[in-house]
Amino acid sequence: LSSPVVLGIESSCDETGVGVVQGTRLLAHEVASSVEEHVRFGGVIPEIAARAHVQALVPTVRRALDAAGVRLRDLDAIAVTAGPGLAGALMVGVAGAKALALAAEKPLYGINHLVAHVGVGLLDGVRPGGWDELPSNLGALLVSGGHTEVLRIDDISRSVRLLGSTIDDAAGEAYDKVARLIGAGYPGGPVIDRMAADGDRAAFRFPRGLSAGKFVGSAEEPGPHRHDWSFSGLKTAVSRAVEQFEARDLQVPREDIAASFQEAVADVVTSKAVRACQENGIEHLLLGGGVAANSRLRSLLAARCASAGIELVVPPVNLCTDNGAMVAALGARLVADGVEPSGGGFGVDPGLDV
Ligand code: KG4
Ligand code: ZN
Repeated sequence: LSSPVVLGIESSCDETGVGVVQGTRLLAHEVASSVEEHVRFGGVIPEIAARAHVQALVPTVRRALDAAGVRLRDLDAIAVTAGPGLAGALMVGVAGAKALALAAEKPLYGINHLVAHVGVGLLDGVRPGGWDELPSNLGALLVSGGHTEVLRIDDISRSVRLLGSTIDDAAGEAYDKVARLIGAGYPGGPVIDRMAADGDRAAFRFPRGLSAGKFVGSAEEPGPHRHDWSFSGLKTAVSRAVEQFEARDLQVPREDIAASFQEAVADVVTSKAVRACQENGIEHLLLGGGVAANSRLRSLLAARCASAGIELVVPPVNLCTDNGAMVAALGARLVADGVEPSGGGFGVDPGLDV
Protein backbone atom coordinates (compact mmCIF):
# COMPACT_ATOMS: atom_id res chain seq x y z
CA LEU A 1 0.00 0.00 0.00
CA SER A 2 1.69 3.20 -1.09
CA SER A 3 -1.00 5.65 0.03
CA PRO A 4 -2.89 3.96 2.86
CA VAL A 5 -5.85 5.79 4.38
CA VAL A 6 -5.31 5.92 8.13
CA LEU A 7 -7.24 7.33 11.07
CA GLY A 8 -5.08 8.57 13.96
CA ILE A 9 -6.22 9.14 17.53
CA GLU A 10 -4.28 11.15 20.13
CA SER A 11 -5.36 11.43 23.78
CA SER A 12 -2.15 11.51 25.82
CA CYS A 13 -2.80 14.81 27.60
CA ASP A 14 -5.60 17.39 27.35
CA GLU A 15 -6.18 17.31 23.59
CA THR A 16 -8.49 14.83 21.92
CA GLY A 17 -7.01 14.81 18.44
CA VAL A 18 -8.24 12.84 15.44
CA GLY A 19 -6.61 12.96 12.02
CA VAL A 20 -7.18 11.26 8.68
CA VAL A 21 -4.37 10.95 6.15
CA GLN A 22 -3.92 9.28 2.83
CA GLY A 23 -0.25 8.41 2.50
CA THR A 24 1.45 11.73 3.15
CA ARG A 25 -1.63 13.83 2.41
CA LEU A 26 -3.58 15.27 5.31
CA LEU A 27 -7.29 14.89 4.58
CA ALA A 28 -8.60 16.33 7.86
CA HIS A 29 -7.82 16.76 11.50
CA GLU A 30 -9.96 17.85 14.40
CA VAL A 31 -8.94 18.72 17.94
CA ALA A 32 -11.10 19.11 21.05
CA SER A 33 -9.19 20.53 24.01
CA SER A 34 -10.11 20.41 27.69
CA VAL A 35 -7.62 23.20 28.51
CA GLU A 36 -10.41 25.51 29.72
CA GLU A 37 -11.38 22.98 32.39
CA HIS A 38 -7.83 22.99 33.79
CA VAL A 39 -7.32 26.76 33.94
CA ARG A 40 -8.58 27.21 37.49
CA PHE A 41 -6.16 24.52 38.71
CA GLY A 42 -3.16 26.03 36.93
CA GLY A 43 -2.25 22.72 35.31
CA VAL A 44 -3.71 19.62 33.67
CA ILE A 45 -5.72 17.48 36.11
CA PRO A 46 -5.42 13.88 34.82
CA GLU A 47 -8.87 12.78 35.97
CA ILE A 48 -10.56 15.74 34.30
CA ALA A 49 -8.58 15.18 31.10
CA ALA A 50 -9.63 11.52 30.97
CA ARG A 51 -13.30 12.35 31.51
CA ALA A 52 -13.15 14.99 28.78
CA HIS A 53 -11.69 12.45 26.34
CA VAL A 54 -14.62 10.11 27.04
CA GLN A 55 -17.01 12.86 26.02
CA ALA A 56 -15.03 14.18 23.07
CA LEU A 57 -13.65 11.06 21.41
CA VAL A 58 -16.58 9.82 19.34
CA PRO A 59 -17.78 13.29 18.22
CA THR A 60 -14.22 14.21 17.23
CA VAL A 61 -13.78 10.98 15.24
CA ARG A 62 -17.11 11.72 13.55
CA ARG A 63 -16.08 15.27 12.64
CA ALA A 64 -12.70 14.20 11.26
CA LEU A 65 -14.18 11.41 9.11
CA ASP A 66 -16.90 13.73 7.79
CA ALA A 67 -14.42 16.50 7.02
CA ALA A 68 -12.17 14.02 5.21
CA GLY A 69 -15.09 12.46 3.31
CA VAL A 70 -13.97 9.04 4.51
CA ARG A 71 -16.06 6.22 5.98
CA LEU A 72 -14.74 3.74 8.53
CA ARG A 73 -14.82 0.97 5.94
CA ASP A 74 -12.54 3.00 3.63
CA LEU A 75 -9.72 2.96 6.17
CA ASP A 76 -6.65 0.78 5.71
CA ALA A 77 -5.66 1.07 9.37
CA ILE A 78 -6.20 2.87 12.66
CA ALA A 79 -3.36 4.28 14.76
CA VAL A 80 -3.50 5.47 18.35
CA THR A 81 -1.07 6.97 20.85
CA ALA A 82 -0.09 4.28 23.38
CA GLY A 83 2.35 6.47 25.38
CA PRO A 84 3.98 8.41 26.84
CA GLY A 85 1.32 10.48 28.58
CA LEU A 86 -1.30 10.44 31.32
CA ALA A 87 -2.43 6.85 31.96
CA GLY A 88 -6.16 7.54 32.22
CA ALA A 89 -6.14 9.86 29.22
CA LEU A 90 -4.24 7.35 27.09
CA MET A 91 -6.64 4.57 28.09
CA VAL A 92 -9.62 6.40 26.64
CA GLY A 93 -8.01 6.79 23.21
CA VAL A 94 -6.59 3.27 23.18
CA ALA A 95 -9.85 1.63 24.27
CA GLY A 96 -11.79 3.67 21.71
CA ALA A 97 -9.35 2.83 18.92
CA LYS A 98 -9.47 -0.86 19.79
CA ALA A 99 -13.25 -0.87 19.67
CA LEU A 100 -13.26 0.92 16.31
CA ALA A 101 -10.63 -1.45 14.88
CA LEU A 102 -12.55 -4.48 16.09
CA ALA A 103 -15.88 -3.29 14.75
CA ALA A 104 -14.52 -2.08 11.41
CA GLU A 105 -12.12 -5.04 11.09
CA LYS A 106 -9.06 -2.85 10.59
CA PRO A 107 -5.44 -3.34 11.62
CA LEU A 108 -4.46 -1.27 14.66
CA TYR A 109 -1.13 0.37 15.50
CA GLY A 110 -0.14 1.53 18.98
CA ILE A 111 2.06 4.57 18.44
CA ASN A 112 4.78 6.34 20.39
CA HIS A 113 3.67 9.96 20.92
CA LEU A 114 7.22 11.33 20.61
CA VAL A 115 7.79 9.62 17.28
CA ALA A 116 4.35 10.80 16.16
CA HIS A 117 5.47 14.43 16.67
CA VAL A 118 8.19 13.66 14.13
CA GLY A 119 5.55 12.06 11.87
CA VAL A 120 4.22 15.56 11.17
CA GLY A 121 7.34 16.03 9.07
CA LEU A 122 6.09 13.35 6.67
CA LEU A 123 3.02 15.35 5.70
CA ASP A 124 2.96 17.17 2.36
CA GLY A 125 3.81 20.85 2.63
CA VAL A 126 5.36 20.77 6.12
CA ARG A 127 8.79 21.08 4.60
CA PRO A 128 8.73 23.65 1.80
CA GLY A 129 9.29 21.63 -1.36
CA GLY A 130 8.67 18.36 0.49
CA TRP A 131 11.15 15.49 0.58
CA ASP A 132 11.12 12.31 -1.47
CA GLU A 133 12.28 10.36 1.54
CA LEU A 134 12.98 11.51 5.08
CA PRO A 135 16.74 12.13 5.29
CA SER A 136 18.74 9.70 7.41
CA ASN A 137 20.42 12.61 9.21
CA LEU A 138 17.15 13.95 10.61
CA GLY A 139 16.73 15.18 14.18
CA ALA A 140 13.76 16.48 16.12
CA LEU A 141 13.48 18.95 18.97
CA LEU A 142 10.28 18.46 21.00
CA VAL A 143 9.36 21.10 23.55
CA SER A 144 5.99 21.04 25.26
CA GLY A 145 4.30 20.96 28.64
CA GLY A 146 5.01 17.25 28.88
CA HIS A 147 8.32 16.80 27.13
CA THR A 148 11.64 18.33 26.22
CA GLU A 149 13.67 16.01 24.03
CA VAL A 150 16.09 15.90 21.19
CA LEU A 151 15.88 12.82 18.98
CA ARG A 152 17.80 11.34 16.09
CA ILE A 153 15.59 9.63 13.54
CA ASP A 154 17.57 7.05 11.62
CA ASP A 155 14.43 5.37 10.29
CA ILE A 156 11.09 6.68 11.53
CA SER A 157 9.43 3.24 11.32
CA ARG A 158 12.13 1.32 13.11
CA SER A 159 14.92 3.30 14.67
CA VAL A 160 14.59 6.50 16.67
CA ARG A 161 17.14 7.40 19.34
CA LEU A 162 16.81 9.73 22.29
CA LEU A 163 19.89 11.97 22.42
CA GLY A 164 18.82 14.11 25.35
CA SER A 165 15.85 15.07 27.49
CA THR A 166 14.96 17.07 30.58
CA ILE A 167 15.96 15.51 33.88
CA ASP A 168 13.21 17.37 35.78
CA ASP A 169 10.54 19.74 34.42
CA ALA A 170 9.60 20.04 30.78
CA ALA A 171 10.19 23.47 29.21
CA GLY A 172 6.44 24.19 28.95
CA GLU A 173 5.97 23.05 32.53
CA ALA A 174 8.61 25.59 33.59
CA TYR A 175 6.64 28.25 31.69
CA ASP A 176 3.45 27.23 33.47
CA LYS A 177 5.12 27.24 36.92
CA VAL A 178 6.81 30.60 36.40
CA ALA A 179 3.55 32.06 35.15
CA ARG A 180 1.96 31.01 38.42
CA LEU A 181 4.83 32.62 40.38
CA ILE A 182 4.31 35.97 38.70
CA GLY A 183 0.53 35.67 38.63
CA ALA A 184 0.28 35.45 34.86
CA GLY A 185 -2.37 32.72 34.55
CA TYR A 186 -2.53 29.39 32.71
CA PRO A 187 -1.31 28.17 30.28
CA GLY A 188 1.79 30.19 31.01
CA GLY A 189 3.56 30.04 27.67
CA PRO A 190 1.45 32.41 25.59
CA VAL A 191 1.03 34.89 28.48
CA ILE A 192 4.74 35.05 29.30
CA ASP A 193 5.57 35.31 25.60
CA ARG A 194 3.32 38.40 25.41
CA MET A 195 4.58 39.94 28.66
CA ALA A 196 8.19 39.38 27.61
CA ALA A 197 7.67 41.65 24.61
CA ASP A 198 7.48 44.59 27.06
CA GLY A 199 10.42 43.49 29.21
CA ASP A 200 14.20 43.54 29.13
CA ARG A 201 15.64 40.09 28.55
CA ALA A 202 18.98 41.17 30.03
CA ALA A 203 17.46 42.48 33.27
CA PHE A 204 18.15 39.23 35.16
CA ARG A 205 20.74 36.60 34.42
CA PHE A 206 18.84 33.41 35.20
CA PRO A 207 20.67 30.05 35.22
CA ARG A 208 20.98 27.83 32.16
CA GLY A 209 20.93 24.39 33.78
CA LEU A 210 23.37 21.70 32.60
CA SER A 211 25.16 23.98 30.18
CA ALA A 212 28.68 23.44 31.54
CA GLY A 213 30.58 21.34 34.08
CA LYS A 214 31.29 17.69 34.70
CA PHE A 215 27.77 16.52 33.84
CA VAL A 216 28.14 18.08 30.42
CA GLY A 217 31.80 17.32 29.69
CA SER A 218 33.27 17.96 26.27
CA ALA A 219 32.73 16.56 22.79
CA GLU A 220 35.72 14.30 23.37
CA GLU A 221 34.72 13.28 26.89
CA PRO A 222 30.95 13.71 27.19
CA GLY A 223 29.45 13.86 30.68
CA PRO A 224 26.32 11.86 31.57
CA HIS A 225 23.99 14.80 30.83
CA ARG A 226 25.75 16.33 27.84
CA HIS A 227 22.56 16.74 25.82
CA ASP A 228 20.08 16.88 28.70
CA TRP A 229 18.25 19.86 30.20
CA SER A 230 17.28 20.88 33.71
CA PHE A 231 14.79 23.65 34.49
CA SER A 232 14.30 23.27 38.23
CA GLY A 233 17.15 25.66 39.11
CA LEU A 234 15.76 28.25 36.74
CA LYS A 235 12.33 28.03 38.34
CA THR A 236 13.91 28.41 41.81
CA ALA A 237 15.92 31.43 40.67
CA VAL A 238 12.77 33.13 39.38
CA SER A 239 11.00 32.36 42.63
CA ARG A 240 13.88 33.93 44.63
CA ALA A 241 13.84 37.04 42.47
CA VAL A 242 10.10 37.46 43.02
CA GLU A 243 10.51 36.97 46.77
CA GLN A 244 13.23 39.60 46.99
CA PHE A 245 10.97 42.25 45.53
CA GLU A 246 8.00 41.18 47.63
CA ALA A 247 10.07 41.11 50.85
CA ARG A 248 10.97 44.75 50.30
CA ASP A 249 7.42 45.66 49.33
CA LEU A 250 8.60 46.60 45.88
CA GLN A 251 6.57 46.06 42.77
CA VAL A 252 7.67 42.86 41.00
CA PRO A 253 9.04 43.74 37.52
CA ARG A 254 6.96 41.03 35.88
CA GLU A 255 7.78 41.96 32.29
CA ASP A 256 11.53 41.95 32.93
CA ILE A 257 11.28 38.65 34.78
CA ALA A 258 9.19 37.16 31.97
CA ALA A 259 11.64 38.35 29.31
CA SER A 260 14.71 37.17 31.24
CA PHE A 261 13.13 33.80 32.01
CA GLN A 262 12.10 33.37 28.39
CA GLU A 263 15.63 34.23 27.30
CA ALA A 264 17.11 31.60 29.63
CA VAL A 265 14.79 28.88 28.31
CA ALA A 266 15.27 29.81 24.66
CA ASP A 267 19.03 30.11 25.09
CA VAL A 268 19.60 26.78 26.79
CA VAL A 269 17.08 24.83 24.71
CA THR A 270 18.47 26.04 21.40
CA SER A 271 22.17 25.95 22.26
CA LYS A 272 21.99 22.41 23.59
CA ALA A 273 19.78 21.18 20.74
CA VAL A 274 22.17 22.58 18.14
CA ARG A 275 25.13 21.01 19.91
CA ALA A 276 23.35 17.63 20.02
CA CYS A 277 22.78 17.95 16.26
CA GLN A 278 26.38 18.86 15.55
CA GLU A 279 27.76 16.00 17.61
CA ASN A 280 25.37 13.46 16.10
CA GLY A 281 25.60 14.32 12.41
CA ILE A 282 22.12 15.86 12.21
CA GLU A 283 21.66 18.30 9.33
CA HIS A 284 17.86 18.65 9.31
CA LEU A 285 15.98 19.52 12.49
CA LEU A 286 12.22 19.31 12.91
CA LEU A 287 10.60 21.34 15.68
CA GLY A 288 7.57 20.07 17.63
CA GLY A 289 5.54 20.67 20.82
CA GLY A 290 3.51 23.59 22.14
CA VAL A 291 6.55 25.67 23.09
CA ALA A 292 7.45 25.72 19.39
CA ALA A 293 4.99 28.65 19.30
CA ASN A 294 7.39 30.71 21.42
CA SER A 295 8.63 33.77 19.55
CA ARG A 296 12.08 33.94 21.14
CA LEU A 297 12.72 30.20 20.86
CA ARG A 298 11.85 30.32 17.18
CA SER A 299 14.09 33.26 16.36
CA LEU A 300 17.09 32.00 18.35
CA LEU A 301 16.73 28.50 16.95
CA ALA A 302 16.49 29.79 13.39
CA ALA A 303 19.62 31.90 13.85
CA ARG A 304 21.63 29.16 15.54
CA CYS A 305 20.61 26.47 13.06
CA ALA A 306 21.51 28.79 10.19
CA SER A 307 24.98 29.45 11.53
CA ALA A 308 25.51 25.72 12.18
CA GLY A 309 24.37 24.80 8.65
CA ILE A 310 21.34 22.89 9.93
CA GLU A 311 18.07 23.07 8.03
CA LEU A 312 15.26 23.93 10.44
CA VAL A 313 11.76 22.69 9.63
CA VAL A 314 8.98 24.36 11.63
CA PRO A 315 5.48 22.93 11.11
CA PRO A 316 2.40 25.16 11.52
CA VAL A 317 1.60 25.66 15.22
CA ASN A 318 -1.56 23.52 15.11
CA LEU A 319 0.56 20.58 13.97
CA CYS A 320 3.26 21.27 16.61
CA THR A 321 0.80 20.98 19.49
CA ASP A 322 -0.75 17.59 20.17
CA ASN A 323 -3.01 16.45 17.34
CA GLY A 324 -4.31 13.35 15.59
CA ALA A 325 -2.78 14.13 12.20
CA MET A 326 0.68 13.26 13.47
CA VAL A 327 -0.52 9.88 14.73
CA ALA A 328 -2.27 9.16 11.44
CA ALA A 329 0.80 10.24 9.45
CA LEU A 330 3.08 7.90 11.38
CA GLY A 331 0.49 5.12 11.12
CA ALA A 332 0.34 5.53 7.34
CA ARG A 333 4.10 5.30 7.20
CA LEU A 334 4.12 2.09 9.24
CA VAL A 335 1.52 0.56 6.91
CA ALA A 336 3.49 1.63 3.84
CA ASP A 337 6.67 0.16 5.33
CA GLY A 338 4.98 -3.17 6.01
CA VAL A 339 5.34 -2.95 9.78
CA GLU A 340 3.22 -5.54 11.64
CA PRO A 341 0.15 -4.08 13.36
CA SER A 342 0.13 -4.12 17.16
CA GLY A 343 -3.01 -6.26 17.44
CA GLY A 344 -5.67 -5.67 20.09
CA GLY A 345 -3.79 -6.75 23.20
CA PHE A 346 -1.36 -3.92 23.84
CA GLY A 347 -1.63 -1.65 26.86
CA VAL A 348 -0.85 1.99 27.51
CA ASP A 349 2.66 2.99 28.57
CA PRO A 350 2.67 6.34 30.41
CA GLY A 351 6.47 6.36 30.69
CA LEU A 352 7.22 5.15 27.16
CA ASP A 353 10.63 6.19 25.86
CA VAL A 354 11.83 5.87 22.27
O1 KG4 B 1 2.22 20.47 23.00
P1 KG4 B 1 1.27 21.08 23.95
O2 KG4 B 1 0.01 21.69 23.42
O3 KG4 B 1 0.81 20.04 25.04
C1 KG4 B 1 1.66 19.26 25.78
O4 KG4 B 1 2.12 19.77 26.84
O5 KG4 B 1 1.96 18.11 25.38
O6 KG4 B 1 2.10 22.17 24.77
C2 KG4 B 1 1.53 22.96 25.78
C3 KG4 B 1 2.62 23.78 26.42
C4 KG4 B 1 2.17 24.53 27.65
O7 KG4 B 1 3.09 24.30 28.70
C5 KG4 B 1 2.21 25.99 27.20
O8 KG4 B 1 2.50 26.88 28.27
C6 KG4 B 1 3.30 25.96 26.17
O9 KG4 B 1 3.15 24.74 25.49
N1 KG4 B 1 3.21 27.09 25.21
C7 KG4 B 1 4.17 28.04 25.09
C8 KG4 B 1 3.69 28.97 24.12
N2 KG4 B 1 2.47 28.54 23.69
C9 KG4 B 1 2.21 27.38 24.36
N3 KG4 B 1 5.33 28.18 25.72
C10 KG4 B 1 6.07 29.26 25.40
N4 KG4 B 1 5.69 30.20 24.51
C11 KG4 B 1 4.51 30.11 23.84
N5 KG4 B 1 4.15 31.05 22.97
ZN1 ZN C 1 3.13 16.17 22.61
